[in-house]
Amino acid sequence: MNKDFLKYQAQTTPHPLGLEVVKAEGSYIFTSDGQKHLDFVAGVSATSLGHCHPEVIKAIKEQADKYLHVMVYGEYSQAPAVAFSKLLADNLPQPLKKVYLVNSGTEAIEGSLKLARRATGRTQLIAAKSAYHGNTMGSLSLMNFEERQKPFRPLIGDIDFIEFNNEQDLNEITENTAAVILETIQGGGGFIQPKDQYLKKVKSRCEEVGALLILDEIQPGFGRTGKLFGFQNYDVVPDIMAIGKGMGGGLPVGAFVASEKLMDLLSNNPKMGHITTFGGNPLIAAACHATLKTILETELMAATLEKEKRFRELLVHPLISEIRGKGLMLAAIVKSEEIANKIILDCKEKGLILFWLLFEKKAVRITPPLTISMEEIEEGCGIIIEALNKIETKA
Ligand SMILES: Cc1ncc(COP(=O)(O)O)c(C=O)c1O
Repeated sequence: MNKDFLKYQAQTTPHPLGLEVVKAEGSYIFTSDGQKHLDFVAGVSATSLGHCHPEVIKAIKEQADKYLHVMVYGEYSQAPAVAFSKLLADNLPQPLKKVYLVNSGTEAIEGSLKLARRATGRTQLIAAKSAYHGNTMGSLSLMNFEERQKPFRPLIGDIDFIEFNNEQDLNEITENTAAVILETIQGGGGFIQPKDQYLKKVKSRCEEVGALLILDEIQPGFGRTGKLFGFQNYDVVPDIMAIGKGMGGGLPVGAFVASEKLMDLLSNNPKMGHITTFGGNPLIAAACHATLKTILETELMAATLEKEKRFRELLVHPLISEIRGKGLMLAAIVKSEEIANKIILDCKEKGLILFWLLFEKKAVRITPPLTISMEEIEEGCGIIIEALNKIETKA
């Protein structure tokens, strides 16, 4: 591994995967040792159209020739941000028609929380156990893992937790609640889908008590689950939606979306209720627009369900207890954490990129680009089965 990477760049774990990347294209990442790696992770659900999609690169290059950053978010009208916001709003149900562009998923969550408190005048926020919404102070406050929160306290106050998919817990949502925030499909917790109309029931409880529903679509968003957004699979519409990751086709971005009435609250009492320098950055917005347009104009979204089917057919093995998730947001749940580790590391050696989930340690993440081909799926699944067979033989 590049020694300067370890020496000069702050590390997030003592054992980074450390591929030394020289180029990436489509479903492949190429490294300095001459190896080619099939990517089943897509930068953790972020490179939705694969690496360096020609439409995204074209949009970036064209915009780079015109202008880059010219002003803080919200002051000037800049064509890429306007075009992207309009295209997104045109493809969203009422009342999700106004878009606030920010720089990352976690900032989209921060903006959503602020908007909910501002709109309701209430302070309590309710999040789900095993949720992940990001790592800045507000988002971190929504993660009920003592070991991860403790060193950073005090975090933001008045946050309570309910269990995802547990209807009894809905009684915790009361007239004191500003908002309930949930991932549409729990990611780090193990790719857990809402069941038995759970999200609809949460929404209706929120409506009863005047609380808002925020859905975190940062992972399922932008076509990964067969619909543009995950919530469209579950017959519910949030009051506020947070998005990011796959939105930028490989560039860093986030946004939160709400009704015009709600969003307008951020521009008065106080003015500048949320501000950001680089939100709506023209280069990034151009990439977002090209990404969304490509997703809308191709068969990629619908094809995720066919591709899911193929993964489910191929990933059958005694050591796999379950394939969780929807579309191309899948996780193979194996018999133990040790087996998950072995598969991920062995496949890395064999040229297939897999990754862990944050909290569910028996999971192997499979979130390839939406552009992955059936042949690539077959090739990668073959490598996984080979790795599993090796474990079985040794056991
Ligand atoms: C569901 C969910 N919400 C929020 C975030 C935070 O996004 P970002 O890392 O862009 O801040 C992530 C990132 O993994 C996520 O998966």
